[in-house]
Amino acid sequence: MSELLQTELCGMKLSTPIFAASGTFGFGEEFESFVDLKRLGGVMVKCITLKPRRGNDGVRITETPSGMLNAIGLENPGVEVFLSNILPRIKDKMNVIVNVSGSSVEDYGRLAELLDVDGVAAIELNISCPNVKDGGIIFGTDARQAANVTSAAKKSTSKPVIVKLSPNVTDITKIAKACEAAGADCLSLINTLMGMEININTWRPTLGNVTGGLSGGAIKPVALRMVWQVANAVKVPIIGMGGIRSASDAAEFFLAGASAVATGTANFAEPSITMKIADDLERYLQGHGLKNIRELVGKVKA
Ligand SMILES: Cc1cc2nc3c(=O)[nH]c(=O)nc-3n(C[C@H](O)[C@H](O)[C@H](O)COP(=O)(O)O)c2cc1C
Repeated sequence: MSELLQTELCGMKLSTPIFAASGTFGFGEEFESFVDLKRLGGVMVKCITLKPRRGNDGVRITETPSGMLNAIGLENPGVEVFLSNILPRIKDKMNVIVNVSGSSVEDYGRLAELLDVDGVAAIELNISCPNVKDGGIIFGTDARQAANVTSAAKKSTSKPVIVKLSPNVTDITKIAKACEAAGADCLSLINTLMGMEININTWRPTLGNVTGGLSGGAIKPVALRMVWQVANAVKVPIIGMGGIRSASDAAEFFLAGASAVATGTANFAEPSITMKIADDLERYLQGHGLKNIRELVGKVKA
């Protein structure tokens, strides 16, 4: 494997700084026939909660111009089943980043503790899910709550803690700084933007949950702006995501200050997109006479 994309993040050795974003890549194994999982920086697996969740009723996904709205509602088998049935199957195949969500600060601490096991590379705190009624977003939109959740997780695990930020805030740098001060090892951003669609024949919202999270190409400029703002506000590394569909999209995030990137919605349209991004990014680096992706990070001349 080429050294152009090899890098390091929170003590994790990465063959490339390209991750698969949570909720868009299952538990990684579903993509085995499309992707060399070892060539990914890691897979942020579908969000895990303490208890199993059925997710939301009704329509959960709808296409929008250059993107999609989703309101899955964190459907998952729960941490016990994840640890006993899923983790043993996937742990040697990829860097497993476990995305977790809770309804209280204590839930995040407990999840971090339970997941402090062999085979988990890092824990990503989903403090930003806009699609559930009982938590998630509340922690991501309040700096003090975001800090509380971060320190509860940090106290309970030896793994790197990545905090995933919500874009549904006025000033994302305030939340980012609070999480950094509380001990976050890394920040990932952005989660989806809250949106809505209405069926004009039935006069009902398209989604069963009424509102949902907007993702895909449409949100890239917002995500890029937020990565750039956060990169200028904190010292911890950033995993940038939001609408990345190509190596040139990814390069913009590195230039804005991300040390790694993740693709989400693009995996649905093209399951092998992460490999294409890796190939094209290598060519881009070579074309610019660069020896390693790190030389690009934060180099925007703004
Ligand atoms: C169908 C779907 C499910 C998602 N589920 C989760 C989740 O469980 N946890 C989480 O932190 N983010 C979740 N996300 C957000 C993505 O990980 C990502 O942050 C967001 O979609 C922006 O990236 P993208 O535009 O490349 O998709 C989900 C996104 C989609 C589209």
